[in-house]
Amino acid sequence: MTEILENPLEALSKPYVIPVEAYYSREYAQREKEKLWSKVWLNVARVSELPKFGDFLTYAIGDDEFIVIRTGDDTFKAYSNVCSHRGRPLIDTEPGEHDARGRRRQFVCGFHGWRYDTEGACTYVAEAEDWGPQGPDLDQYHLPQVTVDTWGGWIWLTMNPDAEPLLDYLSPIPELLEPFQLENMRCRWRRYLEFDCNWKVALEAFMETYHVPQTHPEFRVFGSFLGWSRAQGTHSHIGYDAPKGMEENQAKVRIAQGTEDARLSTAKMQNFTWEAVNTNTTQTLVDAANRLVDELPEDTPAPEVLKHWLSSARRDDEARGVIWPTPTPEQSAASGTAWQVFPNFQIGHGLNNALCYGARPLGDDPNKCIFEAAVYEIYPPGEDPRAPWINTPVDDPYWDTHIVLPQDFNNMGAIQKGMKRHGFQGNKPNPYRERGIVNFHRNLARYLGTGAPREL
Ligand code: FES
Ligand SMILES: [Fe+2]
Repeated sequence: MTEILENPLEALSKPYVIPVEAYYSREYAQREKEKLWSKVWLNVARVSELPKFGDFLTYAIGDDEFIVIRTGDDTFKAYSNVCSHRGRPLIDTEPGEHDARGRRRQFVCGFHGWRYDTEGACTYVAEAEDWGPQGPDLDQYHLPQVTVDTWGGWIWLTMNPDAEPLLDYLSPIPELLEPFQLENMRCRWRRYLEFDCNWKVALEAFMETYHVPQTHPEFRVFGSFLGWSRAQGTHSHIGYDAPKGMEENQAKVRIAQGTEDARLSTAKMQNFTWEAVNTNTTQTLVDAANRLVDELPEDTPAPEVLKHWLSSARRDDEARGVIWPTPTPEQSAASGTAWQVFPNFQIGHGLNNALCYGARPLGDDPNKCIFEAAVYEIYPPGEDPRAPWINTPVDDPYWDTHIVLPQDFNNMGAIQKGMKRHGFQGNKPNPYRERGIVNFHRNLARYLGTGAPREL
């Protein structure tokens, strides 16, 4: 395993201020289009979403959009969604839809009927004789192609023809998350919504645990959810500080702490998490937590409760063909609880489940974004839960019962307004618990040539 990088910049442990233009300046957003989105690797979809030859989906970022298509057993291609003739998109993604998808052997433009094969080659131009006896030079009309690769069960793309290989770009994440076998996970649910905030405001709401006590007060009764944040080159990760008397690796799966019987409080926390957010746990874990009171004597020490709970849930899952990965305690400790994949994806990896967030600019307005949340778990072989992207605006009744994420959402639009107010100098993150946010902007500044955090 690659050795975990110690924070390479001691300086990031000092207080910084992040210039506020990054969040609402149109000029900064334009720079992002030119110098960021066109250079980085972007997380697009799950490999399993395009199982058959010709399966495609669209992926939009800002005012760009791509068609990603399976062209072989292990090959995907991606093209800018634009006809080479006069610029009509080949596939129409309806406003408000997450994407458009289907299966095609060719793409026919709706304007003048030009055709393209799955390799992006122009195969038909209407009235070709108008170009002269030779017809048009079809090589001139190939669809603009971008680079695609896969890792972790996801499809990634980059518009940068000179981009470093995906695995190098993601390093050290693939090495550190390899034990968690993310490629074996399937989505339980996926939701997306538009926000009146910059895409970075949305993501940064999930890049630290510092906000948990104030923003999510219901969790307070279950113990402290504070954690660290570390820079890892271009990327960052977070993890919980180990509860007192427990190894750091045991902080990965949380049991409730406090004065109450650990069996009861763990069950309470699991039920609350299942009902109020439906992330970071599974039905098997909830059921096993609810049995703790019958299976363990009162006053079982918390570390014992944790051990028993996890091993009985693991056994239950095994019985139905769901095999959890077995990272070593060192691997668990080194990986933390979530990775911020530069620039706009987060992987919260669990033992038998995962929670991922993404955010993208919506059109060219720096005050608008699309936010996505996806929850994964391991399913028995052959079971495909089919979790389509569901548009779930903030006023959707779904959030009335799933109260935790709306607590985060509530901060986002407010921050976008607040940051523009008189006298606000810029974000001043906690030098320990929010270090990843400083690292994020330090790396953004490397791409954009502006907006570097300043030491206070
Ligand atoms: S714009 Fe596509 S065929 Fe004319
Ligand atoms: Fe939160």
